[in-house]
Formats: sequence, C-alpha cells, structure tokens
Amino acid sequence: MKKITTTIELEELAFSELNPLEVTLIQRAKKISTNAYAPYSDFRVGAAVVLSNGEIYQSSNQENVSFPVGTCAERLLLGYVGANYPEQTPQILAIVAQRAGEDSWARVSPCGMCRQAINEVENRYQSPITILLLQADGTVLRFQGIQQLLPLKFDDLHS
Ligand code: THU
Repeated sequence: MKKITTTIELEELAFSELNPLEVTLIQRAKKISTNAYAPYSDFRVGAAVVLSNGEIYQSSNQENVSFPVGTCAERLLLGYVGANYPEQTPQILAIVAQRAGEDSWARVSPCGMCRQAINEVENRYQSPITILLLQADGTVLRFQGIQQLLPLKFDDLHS
C-alpha cells in the first residue's frame, strides 16, 4: 500500500484586502441573498459571478417542500449564465449566507453537488474559476479553481 497525501491551497483575506471587483461580488451576493426562498432551512444564500465581459449576475437559493428538488444559489446561477451567456466565461464566483433572523453572516461552503457543477463549468470553458467564500468572522476564503475544493475530482469519462 502506498500512502498518498494531497494538499489544498487557499487564501484567507481580511475584507479590506479584497480588490474592488471582489468587494462588488460579495456585496451583490449579500443583496441577492435577501431574495432566497428558504422556508425549510432558513439558510439564505447569495451567489454572484463575473463573466469575461465584466457583466455580473447573481442568484439566491430556491427550496422545495420535496427537499432534493431545491437548488443552491451557485448552481442556479451557473445554470442561468451558461444558458443565457454561453459565449462568456465565468471568472469569479462569490458565495455568502445568512440565517434568517440573524444580522451576522454565516460560514458557507459549497455542497458536493455544487462543487461538481463548478467543475463542469471550468471544464466547459477550460478556465479555472476563482471562488470567494464569506466566513462568519468577516474574512473571505479565496480558492483558485475548484481543484482546491474538490481534490480527486471526476471530470473525464474516458481516462
Ligand atoms: N445552499 C446553497 O444555496 N449554497 C451553498 O453553498 C450551501 C447550501 C443552500 C441549499 C439549501 O437551500 C440551504 O442552503 C441549506 O442547505
């Protein structure tokens, strides 16, 4: 048996260390999270993405009484931009979350299905996506590409 260790790389930034575009994406994600339809979890998520033409789009999570039918904010968003702006490459994706009734922001990290969905978009455009995750203490985790959130990912049916 051979023991294999894999490491991931990420950066933790104080909010003041974000560049203006990153700040805008977090702000857009925060604003859209108020549109979340999350009556079952009360966990209101916002996601914002900037495309290669500089346009920014955003989405919130949309739940369903049949829980698995609900859709996460970032997966809904990537589906929307892929469907409507297929010529544009998603470049930076910001995700934030807040529990209903709380003023502070919650720690958020994309679920496994969303990580796989982000992976597909990276493969489609052959371009890594920078992922920004707002944390409860106001810092932001920055990942350069989904590989850092999904080691040993599945992305080739033939190899
Ligand atoms: N959720 C998202 O929308 N994105 C994430 O990154 C984490 C989880 C949603 C799914 C569900 O509506 C609620 O948050 C609780 O899991």
